[in-house]
Amino acid sequence: MQKEQTFAMIKPDAVQRGFIGEIISRFEKKGIKIVAMKLVVVDRKLAEKHYAVHKGKPFFEPTVKYITSSPVVAMVLEGLNVIEMVRGMTGTTDPQKAAMGTIRGDYGQFIGRNIIHASDGKETASFEINLWFTPKDIADYRRIDEKWLTE
Ligand code: CMP
Repeated sequence: MQKEQTFAMIKPDAVQRGFIGEIISRFEKKGIKIVAMKLVVVDRKLAEKHYAVHKGKPFFEPTVKYITSSPVVAMVLEGLNVIEMVRGMTGTTDPQKAAMGTIRGDYGQFIGRNIIHASDGKETASFEINLWFTPKDIADYRRIDEKWLTE
């Protein structure tokens, strides 16, 4: 298993509903390391770049509107196989179908208000990390529990 980085964003509905701490806490308890994090008021330009692959789809405009409606919390997470691990913790895109115990399954009701975004693969993770952060924003440090998470 490889040490990787991924991008995650706590969306406006979760920020407004007071779930920032709850969501970050799940990542911390799993042993995932936060290496960058910021609260961002997303403008249309950034939203369009982030969701560029969905341009032309019926949900593109509503999603851009949703993501620019109130601040989000953007972060870079690091850990072993972290891209797949965070996707698993996030749950499937539609909170109605997401398993209980996942972030979307536990807190969401509707695909258009699905609490969190997480990169879906290596290329996407690299694109999204570079879109939201610069290399100097990303901290290189060791957590004291790291030696207890792997051999
Ligand atoms: P996210 O994982 O951020 O990626 C695309 C986003 O578009 C998705 O979560 C939802 O917030 C939003 N969306 C709204 N409707 C749909 C849909 N029918 N299919 C996929 N994504 C949707």
